Amino acid sequence: MSVRIAPSILSADFAHLGRDIAAAEAGGADLIHVDVMDGHFVPNLTLGPPVIRAVKRVATRPLDVHLMISNPDPFLKAYVDAGASLLSVHVEVLPHLHRTVAAIKELGAQAGVVLNPSTPVSALEEVAADLDFVLVMSVNPGFGGQTFIPRALDKIRAVRDMLGRAGSRAFIEVDGGVDLTNIAAVAEAGASVVVAGHAVFGQPDAAAAVRALRAAAQGMGA
Ligand code: DX5
Ligand code: ZN
Repeated sequence: MSVRIAPSILSADFAHLGRDIAAAEAGGADLIHVDVMDGHFVPNLTLGPPVIRAVKRVATRPLDVHLMISNPDPFLKAYVDAGASLLSVHVEVLPHLHRTVAAIKELGAQAGVVLNPSTPVSALEEVAADLDFVLVMSVNPGFGGQTFIPRALDKIRAVRDMLGRAGSRAFIEVDGGVDLTNIAAVAEAGASVVVAGHAVFGQPDAAAAVRALRAAAQGMGA
């Protein structure tokens, strides 16, 4: 299966983001995944538009910005202006999801909606046709380096089926605990973008780690 690999800078060295992003790109990273956390929706704090603007200056791949924040609507423009090409928001915090998705698209970014592990696939049925992508969380969001929740594989298949029924062309992204042991199964289940934090930046050589993930995704082993 051919997948796009999106290394998550959450596990990179924040004092050397440019160096680490360059290494991941040298290994063939397709996107750069940026995790925004507000200490409210998730129990952790990370970064915001100023850091994304700086990352945008050095990255050569599109920025895939994942908003784990309680109140994303007032900040969508700031994130797109800072450099997000893909922007995803959590369904769990959005009573007016249809409006939010439309707003992201109007700003010129690809619009994604994220499902926490406990959120049913049916939460997206009514907006499926409007989405550019669905992000399936395979850990509870908030931290890098957690263990992949096996049930996520069934969830990916269920999202794929739901999108098919809705006639949606949205692709599926998977985030959390993806590594050499499970990336092939994640791709096989229907993911076309996989996020990898610890499996890239937690390794001694980020470029080699991206290459190993791609080989594993294609069933060629590490
Ligand atoms: C988790 C974040 C992930 C995280 C993935 O809340 O959304 O993007 O960085 O890291 P790993 O691949 O280490 O689980
Ligand atoms: Zn993420």
